[in-house]
Amino acid sequence: MHYRRMGRSGLKVSEIALGAWVTFGSQISEQTASDLIHAAYEEGVNYFDNADVYAGGQAETVMGNAIQDLPREALVLSSKVFWPTMPGPNGRGLSRKHIFESIHASLKRMQTDYLDLYFCHRFDPDSPIEEVVRAMSDLIAQGKVMYWGTSMWEPAQIAQAHGVARQYGLVPPSVEQPMYNLLNRRRVEHEIIPAVSDLGMGLTTFSPLYYGLLSGKYNDGIPEGSRASLDEMAWMRERITEERIAKVRNLTAMAEELEVTTAQLSIAWILRRKEVSSVITGATRLEQLDENLVAGDLAERLTETEIDRIFAIIGDEV
Ligand SMILES: NC(=O)c1ccc[n+]([C@@H]2O[C@H](COP(=O)([O-])OP(=O)(O)OC[C@H]3O[C@@H](n4cnc5c(N)ncnc54)[C@H](OP(=O)(O)O)[C@@H]3O)[C@@H](O)[C@H]2O)c1
Repeated sequence: MHYRRMGRSGLKVSEIALGAWVTFGSQISEQTASDLIHAAYEEGVNYFDNADVYAGGQAETVMGNAIQDLPREALVLSSKVFWPTMPGPNGRGLSRKHIFESIHASLKRMQTDYLDLYFCHRFDPDSPIEEVVRAMSDLIAQGKVMYWGTSMWEPAQIAQAHGVARQYGLVPPSVEQPMYNLLNRRRVEHEIIPAVSDLGMGLTTFSPLYYGLLSGKYNDGIPEGSRASLDEMAWMRERITEERIAKVRNLTAMAEELEVTTAQLSIAWILRRKEVSSVITGATRLEQLDENLVAGDLAERLTETEIDRIFAIIGDEV
């Protein structure tokens, strides 16, 4: 496992992380989640991603139980706040009140005194940016959070947060968490990377396989038990279009030639970007984790010609 600095911060994160969305507390058993965390940790993964809203809080509970026998200081634990998790008009968003209430609940579920990374899961137009930056800064001052970040914020919103932090002597966000994969790259490459790199922020990117599509598993239909087969994933099934699958089939043919898997090629393609601090993967089985974790070595070996070929296969976003 290789470790990368998270932007200009001193924090080092494993270049491949494991996240809890859809899987922990819902799709997979608690035992499988624990096995995945322990196997990932054994392979050098230090960064585990979560959110207050995943599985209604159960994802944090499962992760909290699983990490109890691991050295806390060796882990980089993250969670997020924004989506509705509590009753009433204040049970959501980025007001000072909800940020503090949500992190207290997350810390309890994760059975830890602090989070290494705490993300604003989306921008909240109903909360003044000064209030958000001050709340995050205060959590850092209290030792409940080491670094705070944004997720899916626009460059102008991130710049505003930095401006307010400078103006009032507060702590600015150190990391942005966007979606980035072969089928969703324009926004990150043209807008996010230039903006956050200038500000010294790191990038922990999510859904490297576009929910599984870029593993090639949907090339011939939707396999039983896969994420797209889940009842609540109708929106994902709509994204499995013939146009996208045609591209992934060509990617699979290239991966076979290179004697790697489509998932490994897709993750390696992301890791070749040095601006990416960590790629947050997801897995329902140990075999997937093992397969994905070796993508870092492949990223080191990929030649310019091979990268050009991947670009030619993927072409424009569809
Ligand atoms: N900040 C945000 O708004 C946000 C949003 C989304 C995700 N995230 C974070 O990013 C993490 C990863 O996102 P993601 O789960 O969407 O990532 P992903 O890598 O795009 O999809 C992971 C899913 O693909 C399938 N898969 C993984 N490896 C595979 C392999 N080698 N072969 C075949 N299938 C494979 C598994 O699903 P099946 O086995 O069920 O098919 C797995 O759960 C989340 O857990 C979360 O922590 C953050």
